[in-house]
Amino acid sequence: MDKYNRTKSAIDFYDDLAADYDNMTKFAQRLEKTKPLMEKWHSRFKFSSVLDAACGTGLHSCVLAQMGINTTGADISLQMLEKAKRNATQLGVKVEWIHSSMQDLQKHCSETFDVVFCLGNSLPHLLTKSDLENTLTNFAALLNNNGIFVAQLLNYERLLKNRERIINIARYEDQNIVRFYDFDQHLIQFNILTFRWMGEKVSHKLQSTPLFPYTKEEISDALLLQGFKKAEFYGGMNFESFNEDTSANLVVIGNI
Ligand SMILES: C[S@@+](CC[C@H](N)C(=O)[O-])C[C@H]1O[C@@H](n2cnc3c(N)ncnc32)[C@H](O)[C@@H]1O
Repeated sequence: MDKYNRTKSAIDFYDDLAADYDNMTKFAQRLEKTKPLMEKWHSRFKFSSVLDAACGTGLHSCVLAQMGINTTGADISLQMLEKAKRNATQLGVKVEWIHSSMQDLQKHCSETFDVVFCLGNSLPHLLTKSDLENTLTNFAALLNNNGIFVAQLLNYERLLKNRERIINIARYEDQNIVRFYDFDQHLIQFNILTFRWMGEKVSHKLQSTPLFPYTKEEISDALLLQGFKKAEFYGGMNFESFNEDTSANLVVIGNI
């Protein structure tokens, strides 16, 4: 049996996490930070339609819709999508929502887009190179002429080299949340350990899912193989230059 249970494990992981995801990731604060970033991307690439693949609870979709962009958000987890729909309603924006894996998106989309975004470290949920290649084939087919695919993930070159295990420590109300990795041979295990304090007493919950720690080289090769003309790399969504030893993020732009 597959030790990691692949995509099903990501569905279970996010279905389980959906109720807490926005508090854990500070949705309201991220929303404010994301607005100027998306404006920057819009003024550089002048897009009018976007597919937000692996949209989660809809942060980027909502910001893009607020900017008047024709936006579709898609995710494999129904619970995350439910939260996304509620967020859009609360913000008063219209987004088209699709329940689909990244690998199957073409089957579920009736239109094509100027940009396909895959943000928030979602690409590493594709656990095999063939999943990555299928996904990029789908994205390429869903892009308009001169469209771009944009992925933002952590800089795994740095994380793997330094064996950096602690990714983030956060506090929300009576909870402490530690996000950390276990390094395996090819995959890494992403863990979220939540402590909930009740006076002096504490309970804990550990949630885990596997990730594939894609490097710049692996993504570049896969993009070119799937018919993208070129790939550009940055160290963050502000177009910082990428340094494999120091950058926190890897941002990839694939041009079709
Ligand atoms: C870390 S969250 C990021 C969500 C969102 N993009 C953000 O920035 O907040 C990763 C998301 O990827 C989704 N996901 C995982 N594997 C997927 C797959 N194969 N196809 C589509 N979505 C997937 C999860 O359900 C989850 O919502």
